[in-house]
Amino acid sequence: MTVAEDSVSVNGRSVTVKSSAGTTLLEFLRESLGLLGTKEGCSEGECGACTVLVDGQPLHSCIYPALAAQGRTVETIEGISKGGDLSSLQAALIAAGGVQCGFCTPGFLMTLTALLRDDPSPDPDQVARAVAGNICRCTGYAQIVEAVAADLPRPGGTR
Ligand code: FES
Ligand code: FES
Repeated sequence: MTVAEDSVSVNGRSVTVKSSAGTTLLEFLRESLGLLGTKEGCSEGECGACTVLVDGQPLHSCIYPALAAQGRTVETIEGISKGGDLSSLQAALIAAGGVQCGFCTPGFLMTLTALLRDDPSPDPDQVARAVAGNICRCTGYAQIVEAVAADLPRPGGTR
């Protein structure tokens, strides 16, 4: 998708970035666009709660300048479900008990979405490595890794 230089594509919608130099992408998404699914935890690039995809790559939006997103595509948790229905990965995460308080969940889902696009069948070690930058204080991580395994395409089937 081609994005105009002074605009950013957010979940497929082109919007103009009207922010000062110090505004983070997280602030722009939450305060200017009202996309509250992306969470603010540490605000220091340490916890992963604010993870979004920029040009398909997961990054911490709390330390990424909004102006740096100009001309790029941004995907947030709001863009993951289709027509209000949970994605299969979202459903698998719930079924596996990988969602408890849910604060970390959008960040995990964005990181995992990028992983699964690169490698549709990661092994548990690859999943664990991918989410190493996402902190969860509730689940103990095993359920999150199990959810990815449960959502993997079966031979002859689709995700
Ligand atoms: S809020 Fe961005 S990494 Fe913690
Ligand atoms: S489910 Fe609570 S922090 Fe992860």
